[in-house]
Amino acid sequence: MTAPKKLFIKTYGCQMNVYDSERMAEALGGEGYVPTDSPDDADMILLNTCHIREKAAEKVYSELGRYKGLKAEKPDLKIGVAGCVAQAEGEEIVRRQPMVDLVVGPQSYHRLPDLLAKAKTGARALDTDFPEEDKFEHLTARPKARRAPAAFLTVQEGCDKFCAFCVVPYTRGAEVSRPVDRVVSEARDLVERGVREITLLGQNVNAYHGVGPEGADWGLARLIRELAKIDGLERIRFTTSHPNDMDDDLIAAHGDCDKLMPYLHLPVQAGSDKILKRMNRQHTAESYLKLIERLRAARPDLHLSGDFIVGFPEETEADFQATLDLVEAVEYGSAFSFKYSTRPGTPAAERAQVPEDEKTERLQRLQSLLTRQQRALQDAMVGRDVSVLFEKPGRTDGQMVGKSEYLHAVHVTGADVAPGDLRRVRVLESGPNSLMGTVL
Ligand code: 5AD
Ligand code: SF4
Repeated sequence: MTAPKKLFIKTYGCQMNVYDSERMAEALGGEGYVPTDSPDDADMILLNTCHIREKAAEKVYSELGRYKGLKAEKPDLKIGVAGCVAQAEGEEIVRRQPMVDLVVGPQSYHRLPDLLAKAKTGARALDTDFPEEDKFEHLTARPKARRAPAAFLTVQEGCDKFCAFCVVPYTRGAEVSRPVDRVVSEARDLVERGVREITLLGQNVNAYHGVGPEGADWGLARLIRELAKIDGLERIRFTTSHPNDMDDDLIAAHGDCDKLMPYLHLPVQAGSDKILKRMNRQHTAESYLKLIERLRAARPDLHLSGDFIVGFPEETEADFQATLDLVEAVEYGSAFSFKYSTRPGTPAAERAQVPEDEKTERLQRLQSLLTRQQRALQDAMVGRDVSVLFEKPGRTDGQMVGKSEYLHAVHVTGADVAPGDLRRVRVLESGPNSLMGTVL
């Protein structure tokens, strides 16, 4: 018997990349690779890259530079670049780092075993096409390992929205939805392997339009209702959504589908209509607030999360104030906020930029407001009962950690609970990033 080969995957960026990395690891398991946490003893290193932040490509090149010594010591080591930087840079990667054996874009992961075989012959393997087939269908797990209680499941990829700041429509391509039966069978398979909570993923997940079993077009709400029928699946979430794709059925599902959790990530990006227009968001602050109102009418305890960009080209102090006003009106349970930074090839990159110090100052003001809100909502949980899906032991002895329905991390100590247990917990304390409670 030969010793198994070791695979080190470094994942950057969003949850879709986390999902893709899992699927790639499982597929490469079929090629005899077992995961390792260290690049030093790996036989294959795969960087699953993200292009959403500034200088993403440069960071990948410098990371690759770090593996030069390893490759010199171990000429059989295979180095691959996957993800959105692979898509954006393509051939340029092997031009600048000739030691890279394999470049694979996010739509071509099903070709990974073939690409690897090609790389092993010493040829350079590159695939950044946007094929028609479902890349996940050919990426099956072998063997079927037990899974953690909470899992991601990609149902949709790509984006047709073309927000003026964003690279996603270029790196992930046009919107594509996976057929309903594939999603349902993958969800069943996950549940058989111990999963209790599934987060449906898509760059624009609520634009999901999959082919149903009888050939009809299914929206996300219908898909969620179908998944809710799976015994043993206790919780469903989805991310990330665009306000304009929040249809009536999906709003209603927040009220009438018990398994759909009361937490919604709904990025607004900015509060000024002028900036929203320049961003090509195709919604206004008012239409967003109306939507939030309808969602809260369906599910009064809904926790909202958002993404914000400050210092978008032409953002004045008054425009920024409109963002603060919107945040005040919504009251977010969590949020991600960023300084605008240019992405080559996107429309806003060519426009006059807001000075860096102004961006920094605005980001600080926004983040302090968001943190205050987040903290207040979290503190308000004290004394309330939440449902917790336990996921893993905590850092201290006898501690277990799980997530509430609102996605708070919740710690309990000394309780008889195991990963995968779903229990009612009385919240006793609110810490900086988590709640402490006692199992009822
Ligand atoms: N600059 C700053 N933030 C950006 N995002 C996307 N592109 C940019 C950019 N060029 C943020 C948006 C998006 C999140 C995933 O990243 O807020 O919702
Ligand atoms: Fe990017 Fe999201 Fe806008 Fe699509 S909707 S272009 S993914 S920010």
